[in-house]
Amino acid sequence: MSLFSPESLPVERLTDDEAAGELARLAVLIADHDRLYHQLDKPQISDAEYDALVRRNTAIEARYPALVRADSPSKRVGAAPAAGFRKIVHTLPMLSLANAFSEEDVADFLARLRRFLSLAEGDELALAAEPKIDGLSCALRYVRGRLDLAATRGDGAVGEDVTRNVLTIKDVPQCLAGPQVPELVEVRGEVYMSRADFLAMNRTRAAQGGEVFANPRNAAAGSLRQLNPAVTAGRPLRFFAYALGEVSEPVAATHQGMRQRLAAWGFVLNEPACTCLDLAGILAYYHQIEAARTELPFDIDGVVYKVDRFDLRDRLGMVSRAPRWAIAHKFPAEQARTRLLKISIQVGRTGALTPVAELEPVTVGGVMVSRATLHNEDEIARKDVRPGDVVVVQRAGDVIPQIVQSLAHAPDSEPYVMPESCPECGSRAVREEGEVVRRCTGGLVCPAQALERLRHFVSRDAFDIEGLGEKIIGEFCAETLIEKPGDIFRLAARDQGCLTPLRKRAGWGDKSASNLFAAIEARRQIGLSRFIFALGIRQIGQATARLLARTYGTYAAWRTAMLAAAADQEGQAWCELTEIDQIGPAVAGDLAEFFGEAHNIEVLDDLAREVTVLDAESPKITDSAVGGKILVFTGTLAAMSRSEAKARAEALGAKVAGSVSAKTDYLIAGADAGSKATKAAALGVTVLDEQEWLALIEGKPS
Ligand code: IVH
Repeated sequence: MSLFSPESLPVERLTDDEAAGELARLAVLIADHDRLYHQLDKPQISDAEYDALVRRNTAIEARYPALVRADSPSKRVGAAPAAGFRKIVHTLPMLSLANAFSEEDVADFLARLRRFLSLAEGDELALAAEPKIDGLSCALRYVRGRLDLAATRGDGAVGEDVTRNVLTIKDVPQCLAGPQVPELVEVRGEVYMSRADFLAMNRTRAAQGGEVFANPRNAAAGSLRQLNPAVTAGRPLRFFAYALGEVSEPVAATHQGMRQRLAAWGFVLNEPACTCLDLAGILAYYHQIEAARTELPFDIDGVVYKVDRFDLRDRLGMVSRAPRWAIAHKFPAEQARTRLLKISIQVGRTGALTPVAELEPVTVGGVMVSRATLHNEDEIARKDVRPGDVVVVQRAGDVIPQIVQSLAHAPDSEPYVMPESCPECGSRAVREEGEVVRRCTGGLVCPAQALERLRHFVSRDAFDIEGLGEKIIGEFCAETLIEKPGDIFRLAARDQGCLTPLRKRAGWGDKSASNLFAAIEARRQIGLSRFIFALGIRQIGQATARLLARTYGTYAAWRTAMLAAAADQEGQAWCELTEIDQIGPAVAGDLAEFFGEAHNIEVLDDLAREVTVLDAESPKITDSAVGGKILVFTGTLAAMSRSEAKARAEALGAKVAGSVSAKTDYLIAGADAGSKATKAAALGVTVLDEQEWLALIEGKPS
C-alpha cells in the first residue's frame, strides 16, 4: 500500500489547492493512526511510515504556512508545550572533548597516549583528524535499519527526544542503505547550519521584522529544539556523522573503517579528513584547515584528533566525561576592539568578587559582546586596565569573553582600585594571603552569595529543576519565598495557603505554576553525586562530587565522615578523605570548612529532610576480584602504564588510593617500589607483583 495518495507529488510541485487538499487528507490520516496506536494499541503502519506522513505534513506546512489547519497534527504536538521533550537516557554516555590550544598541548596529548599505551619509540599510532563543526551533537538510533529515535546530548547522560524534528533533516537517512546493516546501530554526529543558509535565513527573518540569530550554532540549536516540528522543517538544518554509540555488532575496527560504513549507509561525513601518523602530520593538517577555514561552507572552531584503532580506544577509556583517546585542537580566539565603559563587581556563590568589564557592545566572531571577565585585581593591575580604556576583547568557543589588553587610557584616568567591601552586602571583602581572589566575608547574609548558590543548586548538572531559571530564582529570592534550598521543596505547600498563589501572579497561570511544582516534585529523589555537587562547596566540581559519592556510597556515611574530618584534621576520617586519589589537602580543607560551619549543617539537614538522596551506584563489576577493594599502585609496571592499570582497576569496581593505610586491600608493586612497599609490609597489607596483579584481574592462576 502506498502511504501517499496516488496524486501525491513532491512538495515543491504542489499548487495551493493541491497543498490544501493534501494537508486535509494528512490531518485525517495521521489522527487515525494516532488513535490506532495510542488508544487501540493496534498500529497498522510502522513508526518510520508514520514519521514519513508527519514529515510530509510538516514539509507542506513549512512551504504553505497560510494553509496550516486548526486540526493539524503539528498543532497537536505544538499544543503540548508543557510536556516538553521526552527525556532519553543514553545507553552509552555522550562525551565531550578535552581541548588543546597550542602545538605544545597537542604534543603532550600524543605523549600521554604513547605513555598510557606503553608504546615503544618505533610503534605506530595512527590518528584520524577531522574538522570540529560548531553545531550540536545528536544521537540517532537505527533499529533494523530504520531511524527509531533521535536524541540531543543533554547533559551527556540524559538527552531529549527530538525524533520528529530530526526526521525533517534531509541529511539524516530514515532508512540505512545497503545489505549489511546491524540490528541496532546508534550513529552520532553534529546537527549544524551552513554559513550561507544561516545568512539567508537571518536576512529573511530581519526582512519580516523577526529576531535574528547570533551565529549558525545558536540558529541550529534553536531550530532543533522546537516543540513544533513544522518549525524545524522550515529551517535549513544539516547533519554530519562522526561517531558510533551503542551497536549490536562491531561495525569496524578503525575510525576510517567506520567512516566508510557510515558513507555506505547514506550519511554525509565531514571533510576534509585524514589519517596522521605523527605530530608533524597532525600540525600540517591543522594549518591546512586553518588556512581553508573561511572557504569551508560551515563554521568550525578547530579540528579533532582521534585514535584511529577502536581496540586502543577501549584501553584508553575516559577521564571526567571526555575520552582519553581524542582531543579538540582549537583555533585561536577571535578578537575585536571596543571601549571599556566601566568595571562592575560580581559576587559569586563562594563570595569571590569578580571584576566584570562593561563594554560598548561589539561583535566578536559573529557574537555580540557587551561584558567580559577581568578575572581578578592582579590581572587588572598587570594589564593596567582602567574604565574608559580602548581594549581588545576576545572569545574562544563557549568560554566567557575576556579582556586581552588595554590599547589606550582615557585622559586623566587613574589605575583601578578594587573595593574593600562587598558591593552587595557591605561586608568586608578580604584577600587571604596567597590567594588572588578577594572574598566577601558576609557568608549567608550576603544576598548575592545566597542567590548564586541557589542558582547553582537548580542548574542543569545539579538538581536540574526545569522552569526554575536564573530570573525566577532571582525574583523568588528577592521576595524571600526561597532563602535556602529546602524552601524550594516547600514552595507548593506554602502556595496552597497563600493569598497570592503563584498562578495568580503576573506572567503565571494554572499551567505554568503546576508545571513548576511538578518539576520540583520530580527532583525529590536525587543521586548522591548530584546532591553533593549541588551544594556548591568550593572546589567540589562534578568529578570530585562523583568521587566522593563513589567512595562513601550513602548520604549518611558521607555526612558523618565529613563532620568527623572537619572536627579533627588529624583524625582517621581526615586521613581517609585525603587518601582518596585526586583529593588533596586543599579540597579536603574546603570540605572541612563547609562542614565546620553550623549554619551550613542546618541548611544541609533542612534540605535532606525534604529530599531522598539515592545511594551512589555501586561499582559496575562488583563480582570482579577487585570490586570494592582499595588498591594502591607503586613502582614501574612493564605491561601497562600506571595510568592504564589504575583505569583498569577502576573500571573493575576498585577504588584506587594514593597512599597505603590499614584499609588498603592490595598494594601492586612494580619495579623499584620504594617506601610504600615497606609500609604495606609493616601494616600487613597484601603486596602483589605485576604478574600476580594481571592474574588477579584476568582471573588466571599466577
Ligand atoms: S568526536 C567525544 N568529532 O564537539 C567523542 N566531535 O566539544 C565524540 N564535535 O560533543 C566526539 N565536530 O558535539 C567529534 N568531528 C567531530 C566533531 C565533534 C564537532 C563536537 C561534539 C562534541 C563536542 C566537544
